[in-house]
Amino acid sequence: MPGIVLIGAQWGDEGKGKATDLLGDRVDYVVKFNGGNNAGHTVVIGDKKFALHLLPSGILSPGVTPVIANGVVIDVEVLFDELTALGARDVDVSKLLVSGNAHVITSYHRTLDKVTERFLGKRQIGTTGRGIGPSYADKINRVGIRIQDLFDEKILRQKVEGALDQKNHLLVKVYNRRAISVDEVVDDLLQYTERLRPMVADTSLVLNQALDRGETVLFEGGQATMLDVDHGTYPFVTSSNATSGGAATGSGVAPNRFDRVIAVVKAYTTRVGAGPFPTELLAPEGDWAYTAKAGEFLRSAGFEFGTTTGRPRRCGWYDAPIARYAARINGVTDFVLTKLDVLTGLERIPVCVAYDVDGTRHDEVPYSQSDFHHATPIYEELPGWSDDISGAREFSDLPRAAQDYVLALEEMSGSRMSAIGVGPARDAIIARHDLV
Ligand code: GDP
Ligand code: IMO
Ligand code: MG
Repeated sequence: MPGIVLIGAQWGDEGKGKATDLLGDRVDYVVKFNGGNNAGHTVVIGDKKFALHLLPSGILSPGVTPVIANGVVIDVEVLFDELTALGARDVDVSKLLVSGNAHVITSYHRTLDKVTERFLGKRQIGTTGRGIGPSYADKINRVGIRIQDLFDEKILRQKVEGALDQKNHLLVKVYNRRAISVDEVVDDLLQYTERLRPMVADTSLVLNQALDRGETVLFEGGQATMLDVDHGTYPFVTSSNATSGGAATGSGVAPNRFDRVIAVVKAYTTRVGAGPFPTELLAPEGDWAYTAKAGEFLRSAGFEFGTTTGRPRRCGWYDAPIARYAARINGVTDFVLTKLDVLTGLERIPVCVAYDVDGTRHDEVPYSQSDFHHATPIYEELPGWSDDISGAREFSDLPRAAQDYVLALEEMSGSRMSAIGVGPARDAIIARHDLV
């Protein structure tokens, strides 16, 4: 099974890092193909907890060659900070490969991310403030800086000059900030050149050759389907393609080399930042299962606080139309259902099976932004369970109601549920079908 894509089905933080780590001993390469240090993956190995942002989670598996491919935007300072921190914890980081075509996040991207958000006021997206959007905007505008530019000071200087020309007008005249000098940006970037040099490779060639040899390559998506710039809840999205198609453009490996698409999906739903979220639990009063108190239950039982920004995540029930949408957009062959253990103790568990939009039933995610904004969930309630399931390692170890919950979700979601997470630890998983 040589080419495997692993992506998020919802709005991120589904547990992709743990799922990647789980497959780590069966794969040869783990490739990050989109996003940057906006991602936050928590991986728990024994009594150690790792928080990864820019590096692919596969870096924690000793046999794996981690790759940062062309589709990623790289904050070079963050790259070396993360490498140093992992090195200090005895993680072997020496095999990392970085694409020379990946774009760089510079100080002006970070500044612009923050000031544009501030100026958006009520319409703000709630970005992670890491400079992701401005860096991708420069890429598309053809004024971006690439990793390979760091190896030619003259070209780097020209490109930074070109990029800053307009941006300084914007920063000074519109946003009332100080101008950024070409020298400070160039000097800042050049200090990393020699450390970067040995890592930089033609990663598309390396990965295709690995696949030719029959080796297994896992493409690990950052963010998730509903945050994808084309298929998510635009404009409340990130600026890259987090869906499976992004794995091809973001790595230089053709779509016909992908044998499997694994989507990680939480047993409920969370979202960080602004934008529509039909099953979000907000009601101040009423039936407990539909109030903010139920949302608070999910947040505290699931420890739903952002790995990157520490923000509390918005919480709501499982949304089957979104899972079906993710199955369709990504060509999902297998779901990994995570955090089933978080639902333990609930008497009944609502699941959104369709939406009501101004009196009309929608079985699929409405294609129009304003319809999705107005969508209210149509729920079915499934029976809950009270036994602790964190020790379950076989499907049959689960209480009947938990089994039925998984089977009901499988039925509604458009693909099989091949693994089920029952806790944060590496081994807290029930395997139903082989993933590799
Ligand atoms: P990612 O961005 O998709 O990699 O996910 P995050 O790491 O941001 O968030 C997922 C969180 O859930 C992490 O803290 C994981 O340790 C934790 N986690 C993953 N799978 C499970 C599970 O099955 N049960 C529980 N309780 N926690 C899990
Ligand atoms: P992982 O990989 C959850 C959200 C931000 C914001 C929007 C745009 O851990 O699942 P950006 O900084 O990317 O321009 O912000 O996207 N966002 C995430 N939400 N998990 C993530 O990554 C996210 N990366 C970005 O909160 O709403
Ligand atoms: Mg995360």
